[in-house]
Amino acid sequence: MKDLKILGVVVFFTLVTYWGVEPYAHSVMHKHVEFEGFKYKDLKAPAKKGDPAKGKVAIAACVSCHGIKSQGIKAPMDAVSASAAYGVNPPDLSNAGAVLDEKFIANFIVSPTHAGLVKKSGMPAGMADAQGAADIAAYLKSIAPKEIKPKEAFEFACGRCHAVRYDKWTQIGQTPKTKADIKTGVDLKKMEFDKKVGQYKLNLAKYLGKLPPDLSIIVRARGEHYLKTFVENPQNLLHGTAMPRVGVSNEGYEKIYKYLEKVGDPSKPKREKVGPIVLLYFVGFAFLAYMWYKSQWKDLH
Ligand code: HEC
Ligand code: HEC
Repeated sequence: MKDLKILGVVVFFTLVTYWGVEPYAHSVMHKHVEFEGFKYKDLKAPAKKGDPAKGKVAIAACVSCHGIKSQGIKAPMDAVSASAAYGVNPPDLSNAGAVLDEKFIANFIVSPTHAGLVKKSGMPAGMADAQGAADIAAYLKSIAPKEIKPKEAFEFACGRCHAVRYDKWTQIGQTPKTKADIKTGVDLKKMEFDKKVGQYKLNLAKYLGKLPPDLSIIVRARGEHYLKTFVENPQNLLHGTAMPRVGVSNEGYEKIYKYLEKVGDPSKPKREKVGPIVLLYFVGFAFLAYMWYKSQWKDLH
């Protein structure tokens, strides 16, 4: 009986620590922001549903800066020249409708700073009126592929600003596989690429006031809740930050998170598989220990 009481006390304090003290300490150290499900309630939906056929015509105004590869439209400039002109490379719009919220896109076209919650943007405001913007957003939705890869979602929404070293991703694309010259040990192709990345980073840092951090291990550094609330509204957690609200949809965000998790925490699937086995082992072991304990005391009582 006495043993059971001791066990009860231990279990009680463990649970209090787990559910009470730890979350409390956590909430004191980190500001808690409610997650709102990427609904963007502060932005208005257009009065009429967008017409993709009209949007297809109006998109002509956009391709002086943006490529749309899936429609055979190449970017008018390489990433480095574009960053010199606009501060950052305008993303290819093929996957915009697969990653971003449609209402957000419409609002962003009318006013990138208002939708993005930032003071300035390399994308000009007033490219269309509210209805014209809704048409373009509907068009971008209509050309979006049904299924895109996690990395493609990241590339579109975050890849122009953030590098991911562990995956050899740079802000201007994937680091090419190159080889050093056998005689001299010099890798000229790599040097050329590094120089371009460096130039891009300088332009980007000038545009944003600082270089955005590498996101290789961000899932472990920040955790799931912080990440989604931060992407949903960066201003809530870092007031005055130059990172824009990107306007991802729920599905778009899930893809992005999947990519970041795969890069930053590659052993998670394995851990999750092993977890139940370890638990089973402990249960089995506790049972054996209990049997042994009973057999030891049987004769003494
Ligand atoms: C003068 C060049 C320019 C023109 C014209 C332009 N954009 Fe952009 N656009 C940009 C730049 C630069 C960015 C990246 C801004 C940033 O990341 O701060 C951008 C970003 C975007 C994004 C990404 C938004 C996000 O939250 O990730 C979308 C979508 C977009 N533009 C759509 C359009 C559409 C649609 C048009 C035509 C109506 C258009 N753009 C016209 C330069 C331009
Ligand atoms: C237009 C450039 C731009 C884009 C696009 C962008 N970011 Fe950022 N991001 C920044 C900047 C700048 C910072 C540094 C913020 C600061 O310290 O004020 C940052 C910081 C961050 C941080 C660190 C926050 C912290 O508390 O340390 C995370 C996480 C992040 N971004 C995730 C993302 C994700 C995920 C995406 C895509 C959905 C994205 N960013 C898209 C510019 C960008």
